[in-house]
Amino acid sequence: MAIDWEQLTVVAQQVRRNAYAPYSQFQVGAALLAASGRIYAGCNVENASYGLTVCAERNAVFAAVAAGERTFVALVVAGVSSEVFPCGACRQVLAEFCDDLPIRIVGENGSWQETSLKALLPFAFRFQK
Ligand code: THU
Repeated sequence: MAIDWEQLTVVAQQVRRNAYAPYSQFQVGAALLAASGRIYAGCNVENASYGLTVCAERNAVFAAVAAGERTFVALVVAGVSSEVFPCGACRQVLAEFCDDLPIRIVGENGSWQETSLKALLPFAFRFQK
């Protein structure tokens, strides 16, 4: 499937505006393209009990799975800069569903860099394979 990176970027940057980040002021948005062609958006949602915070990437994955998706094609993460890489927990959650996944990180000024899940998390833990 062709990946419309521009559309994914728009979705990630739009949903980033809904991020609930009163503690860190660090807003993140994520747009996950599923094999169905649908795009699932997620933003970080913080909590007064800091450890309950959920990142943008995991919220996007969980929304997609709740909609019945299991196969993913591409991910865009929108942050303040193009250095906002998915955290280790989100990498592991993505690896539950993806052997590999192209990932683009975009900053507020439109700068971006591309990486992949395999590059970010080689040797992911899998229960069975
Ligand atoms: N955060 C994300 O949502 N995704 C990332 O890739 C990195 C971190 C959030 C979690 C927390 O709300 C805030 O950014 C600061 O860590």
